[in-house]
Amino acid sequence: QTLNGPGNERYKELTAELFNTAVFENTLKWQPLAGDWGGGWTVDVASKGVDWLHQHDIQVRGHVLVWPSWRNLPRSAKTLEKEPAKLRAAVNAHVSELALAMRGKLAHWDVLNEPFDNHDLMDLFGDDVMLEWFKGARAADPNVKLFINDYAILSGGAGDTPHRDHYEKTIKFLIDKGAPLDGIGMQGHFGGALTGPEDLLKVLDRFAKFGKQIWITEYDVDIDDEAIAGQFTRDFYTTLFSHPAVGGILMWGFWDGAHWHRNAPLYRKDWSLKPAGEAYRELVLKTWRSNEQAKTDAAGNYKTRAFLGKYAIKVTAGGKTKTVEVELGVGSAPVVVKLE
Ligand code: G3I
Repeated sequence: QTLNGPGNERYKELTAELFNTAVFENTLKWQPLAGDWGGGWTVDVASKGVDWLHQHDIQVRGHVLVWPSWRNLPRSAKTLEKEPAKLRAAVNAHVSELALAMRGKLAHWDVLNEPFDNHDLMDLFGDDVMLEWFKGARAADPNVKLFINDYAILSGGAGDTPHRDHYEKTIKFLIDKGAPLDGIGMQGHFGGALTGPEDLLKVLDRFAKFGKQIWITEYDVDIDDEAIAGQFTRDFYTTLFSHPAVGGILMWGFWDGAHWHRNAPLYRKDWSLKPAGEAYRELVLKTWRSNEQAKTDAAGNYKTRAFLGKYAIKVTAGGKTKTVEVELGVGSAPVVVKLE
């Protein structure tokens, strides 16, 4: 939706340059799709956005199928409060219809958002109702990775908190009951208390034991001191990037002109780069990209270490040149390039 406002072109240019995964802040939420926020919010708009992102080689996370509190459900759901069977069916129908409408277009779906603080539906129907949402999403779109998502898991400094305990219990419950859960989302909205690297790693280890990928789904740091926000962003990304369970990090907006707190990590309203933006560009566009030129041995072999990701390999010999595009993943086979 923000793409329709001023700054549209620059926003798109930077999106394509800086990211390989994106998420819509609001476009796939039930309230706007139900019309509660006025006109213009449609699955068609979302699909067009996804198409544009795919054209730019950016995969998309879906956010969110069920955010189970009255304040985050559409008005039409609240009117069914006294007719629980109808309400339950309406939520399940929403999950199936939206997941089906977006089938094949999304890499991830946040099936369930913020269960610690948003549990009106679980209070009414019992915790088993969460399984129906995961199963419904899986039935509608067999290939999308299904996530749970919550806040205050990485943020809030060190220490054990009820929020973290509850998240761990909920994930265990879903897995034990056979929910098709693929990934664990940790939002990553930081404010006052910034969690240091050692404590971040402790939290990641605690949740990595489930054997699922962890994604940081909504990173931002809303403090006044830009220099500290920059150092924190550098440390945060470095720490998260280092952990084997972490699959990726998304930002909840990157420009002050389109951010829920008007304080986005990377760019000020006038598009000047913040210190965190410098740190991000340095890490993501330089440090974590492998770039080298070398000669093979006499048998034509060359071995190197590189960061995971997509590469173009250009080979030249005997006046012939060939470029191949490959994706380096964990345990990828050697790349063979034949010059003919
Ligand atoms: O644009 C409409 C307007 O037309 C309508 O009449 C009015 C009436 O409510 O609302 C306006 O929409 C607002 C919308 O943002 C778009 O600006 C909503 O009120 C407002 O509640 C909504 O806030 C969003 C919030 O989630 C609630 O859905 C924020 O933009 C969004 O950044 C925030 O995102 C959440 C994640 O989904 C979950 N994690 C936390 C994160 C931050 O709170």
